Amino acid sequence: DPQKVGPLTMPPFRAIPVTTADAMTLPGGYRAQVLAPWGETFTEGGREIGFNHDYVGFFPIDMLTGGTSSTEALLTINHEYVNPMFVGGDTKNRTPAQIRAEMEAVGVSVVRVKKEGREWRIVPDARNRRIDALSDIELTGPVRGSSAVKGATMVKGTVGNCSGGQTPWGTLLTCEENVDGYAKAWEGSGYDPMHQGWVTEIDPFTPEWTPKKRTAMGRFRHENVAVTVAKDGRVVGYMGDDMQDSCVYKFVSRGKYDPEGRAANLNLLAEGDLYVANFGNGSWVLLDYDKNKKLQDAKASDGKPLFTSQADVLADARASALAVGGTPVDRPEDIEIHPRTGEVYVALTNNSKHGNFFGQIVKFREQGDDWTATKFMWEIFAVGGPQSGFASPDNLVFDPYGNLWMVTDNSDLSTNPIKAFHGNNAMFFMPTEGPNAGKAFRFAVGPVDAEMTGPVWSPDGKTLFVSIQHPGEDSESLDKLRSNFAAKPGTNIPRPTLVAIEGFPGWKA
Ligand code: FEO
Ligand code: CA
Ligand code: CA
Ligand code: CA
Repeated sequence: DPQKVGPLTMPPFRAIPVTTADAMTLPGGYRAQVLAPWGETFTEGGREIGFNHDYVGFFPIDMLTGGTSSTEALLTINHEYVNPMFVGGDTKNRTPAQIRAEMEAVGVSVVRVKKEGREWRIVPDARNRRIDALSDIELTGPVRGSSAVKGATMVKGTVGNCSGGQTPWGTLLTCEENVDGYAKAWEGSGYDPMHQGWVTEIDPFTPEWTPKKRTAMGRFRHENVAVTVAKDGRVVGYMGDDMQDSCVYKFVSRGKYDPEGRAANLNLLAEGDLYVANFGNGSWVLLDYDKNKKLQDAKASDGKPLFTSQADVLADARASALAVGGTPVDRPEDIEIHPRTGEVYVALTNNSKHGNFFGQIVKFREQGDDWTATKFMWEIFAVGGPQSGFASPDNLVFDPYGNLWMVTDNSDLSTNPIKAFHGNNAMFFMPTEGPNAGKAFRFAVGPVDAEMTGPVWSPDGKTLFVSIQHPGEDSESLDKLRSNFAAKPGTNIPRPTLVAIEGFPGWKA
C-alpha cells in the first residue's frame, strides 16, 4: 500500500552529469534493455510496433482478477507521430502506399510482455494488436451525432497519441494532442480534424470492445489524464491543453465507480462535468452551456454566437475555457496526483512567447482534500533553469514514496538558452518533502535528439519503462544521421523504442 510507505528524500542512485552522448546513460548499477522497438513484428497477423513511442500503460496480466503481477503484463504504447524520412524514406513525393504506412505507424500498440530473470520479452497473445489511424472508434457523450461532427457517431482512427492515463477498471486513456496537420499530410484519406483531439478509451484486455472517444472530456490538445476516484465514488480526471496560453481542466464523472462492476465502469466516462481552472481566484469554472450565460453570450469576431449547444462548447473547449475566465498558462504537459498528499502536480513546460524557456512545476490542493471541490490553493513546486539544472519539464510519474520522476523535452536547443547547461533530454528524481524537496537529481540521459516519454513503473518498483521518442530527429537526411540509437543490427537508422530500466531495489516500507 503506497500510503504506508514512508518518505524517501535521497535519490537511490548517484546523480549523473550532463551529456550529449548518443546512448541511454544511467548511473552505476542500472541498465536499460531495448524492448518493443519500431518495426518489430509482434502479432500473428504480422503487425509491427509503431513509431515515436510516447505514454506507456502497464496492465498486470492478472489485473481483472485482482492481481498485481510485476513480471507479466499487457503494455500499451502510444505512438505519437511519424517522421516521414524514417517511415517512408522520401519526404517530398509521398505515395499513397507511404501515406498508408504512416497511418499504420501511429496510434497505440497493445503488447504482452514477460520478465524472465532480468530480461523482458514480447510474448504471443491474441490480444496483441494495433489501434491506428484506420481503426473504427465510437464517439460517446454530448458531441456524438451533433452538428459539431456533422452527425457522426463512428469515426476513423486515433492520432497525436501523446501521454495518457490508466483507469482503476483496467482501461487506457490515450490522449490526442497535436492533431491539426493530418488532414493535409494525409490528403485524400478523408481525415476530419473534428474527429481527433479527444480522449480515447481502449480496453487492452478486450479486443472486441470498440474504442470510445470521450467527448464529455472536451476537445483540445490533450496531453494526459491523471485519473483518481473521489471520496463519493465519482471519477475525476485532471487534464492539460498543451498549447501556449492554454488551460488546465478537470472532468468529474456523473456516475460512481464500482470496484465490482467493470461493465458499468466501462461507461463512466461517457457523461460528466468539465471544469476549467481559474488560477486567479483558485476556482474551477463549469463549462456547461445551459448553466453559464457567458457561454450563451460568447460571440465570434463576425458577431455570430460562438456556441449554440453543449456539443459546441465541448468541441472547442479552449475557446469555451477562455470565454468563462479559465487562466491561460505556459503549456501544461503531464499532470499527476501525489500518492501520499493527494496534491495535483502540473508540468508547465515553457512558453517562448513570454520568454519562459525553462518552465516550472506547480502543485495545487483541492479544498477539503476533495477532488470534486470547486476551490483550490496553488503554489510553485520547482522552477527550471541553470540553478535547478533542468528545463522544460514534460512527463511526470510518482513513486509510492511521493518522489517525482520527471523527464524534459527541450526542442530547438540551438536557438534557445537551454543549450548552455542542459545537454540531451534527461530524467530527474525530485523529492517532494524533506531537505531536498524541489531539487532535481539527474537519473538518466537519452540519446541524441530524443525525448524520454511516458515513464511507468512495474507495481513492485523493480522496473521503470521509458519510451525513447524521436532519436536522430534533427538529421538532415538518411546520409547524415545524428543518431544510430537502437538501430537494427547491420543498419544505422535510429529507432524509437521502449526501454526497460532495471537495477531498482523495489519498494521498501
Ligand atoms: Fe506530445 Fe505535450 O507533448
Ligand atoms: Ca507526454
Ligand atoms: Ca509531452
Ligand atoms: Ca513537450
